Amino acid sequence: MRNKPLFSSITGKVIMAVSGAGFVLFLLFHGAMNFISIFSADAYNAICDFLGANWYAVIGTIGLAALMGIHILCGILLSIENLRARGTVRYRTKERPKGVEWSSQNMLVLGLFILLGLALHLCQFWYKMQFAELMGREPVNGMEQIRYIFSNNLYSILYLIWFAVIWLHLSHGLWSMFQSMGWNNDQWKRRGQIIAYIVATIIILLFVSVVVYYWLIYPHL
Ligand code: HEM
Repeated sequence: MRNKPLFSSITGKVIMAVSGAGFVLFLLFHGAMNFISIFSADAYNAICDFLGANWYAVIGTIGLAALMGIHILCGILLSIENLRARGTVRYRTKERPKGVEWSSQNMLVLGLFILLGLALHLCQFWYKMQFAELMGREPVNGMEQIRYIFSNNLYSILYLIWFAVIWLHLSHGLWSMFQSMGWNNDQWKRRGQIIAYIVATIIILLFVSVVVYYWLIYPHL
């Protein structure tokens, strides 16, 4: 007998799409903000000061954390629901149905890797900047912290691997989001996939260029 669903998968997909869209906007802003550091250290430090421990930035951080909690919880519930619906029938990992991307079957695992990278990233930046300021300590300088972290080979490589994982999660997530919005006829399915690849690639290139610049180019200038 089919188990009763934990929650409607339509509701779940809409929640994933809306929270995912919030992250895409955040990543676009965050990527563009970091990219500015390549052209002007002063402008970058001014943006970091503006974001610091000001009330609007703290509200933004709390909103982002709530969005992340909802996205993760819903992702886990949807994955459990998919496993329950499939019952004893499991995909054999090597026999992926034609047209199904590897990332689409591994969104939960990719998401967990992203979370691990995020933990390292927040310890290296947010904890020493906004959190330090909130705790009444002197925050580190954003520009100096970027130069310091990406002068380290290991951190730079770990960040680039992290970005590759984010690209996989993002490109599939965006495509799913378009499908949840109704772009699921043959023509728009393909177009949606191409748009998802383009948007995910632009976002990730903003981040990659910052790491590559401070790791390989800046030390030789
Ligand atoms: C080159 C890559 C990156 C650099 C240089 C960078 C830099 C920073 C800096 C300086 C902060 C602290 C801002 C402040 O507290 O004033 C920060 C916070 C943060 N970063 Fe990044 N970041 C990078 C990539 C990413 C990526 C890929 C993600 C997401 C997957 C991410 C997610 C976050 C989050 C969630 C925060 C906390 C934001 C908040 O306080 O509201 N970052 N990052």
